[in-house]
Amino acid sequence: MNDQQVAVPEKLPAEILRVLFSEEAISSRVSELAGQISADYEAIGAGSVLLIGVLKGAFIFLADLARRLTVPHRVDFIALSSYGQMGAVSGAVRLLMDLREPVAGRHVIIVEDIVDSGQTLAYLDRMIGGREPASLRRCTFLRKHTDGQATVPIEYVGFDIPDVWVVGYGLDYAERYRTLPYIAELRPDVYREG
Ligand code: PRP
Repeated sequence: MNDQQVAVPEKLPAEILRVLFSEEAISSRVSELAGQISADYEAIGAGSVLLIGVLKGAFIFLADLARRLTVPHRVDFIALSSYGQMGAVSGAVRLLMDLREPVAGRHVIIVEDIVDSGQTLAYLDRMIGGREPASLRRCTFLRKHTDGQATVPIEYVGFDIPDVWVVGYGLDYAERYRTLPYIAELRPDVYREG
């Protein structure tokens, strides 16, 4: 396989408009984030870090990130759902599955695939922050630029993106495209028509 074949998939699914981040660009950025996080937590002598992945979207990013950390870490998951339909923002977030690991006294990093309205992260921040972690930081692979986004600090951001519907690398459209190895923009007519 040559470089060109790797960088640009030859045939995109019909609903995909364009590739935003290739598999290689993703891999390189994940390595940078893992290096930054490892250095930060080694510097404060944190011991073990607790990574909390937000299901479903963050499962692939978390798996890649965790395997590149050089600081000791444990992994847990939480499942949330927002009530928004087809990208609309309702502001309501529902807890579907809670953590299995205790948070008190731990150095916690919330790991998201994407921050859109920011409501999910704001909800988690309040919930996990209330359980008295030793420290709490947030990491998202993608951060959308949207009007009225909740203002939660995000210490680690992979890429900033425009307000378009993105799929791949854990992100879905109606549960499709989560396992694409690249991140792509969906054609607007697909999600506007539903
Ligand atoms: C997506 C994504 C984030 C959240 C971000 O999850 O994975 O968790 O939305 O949106 P917000 O910033 O507007 O709150 P979704 O509810 O689609 O569930 P999923 O991860 O299972 O696809």
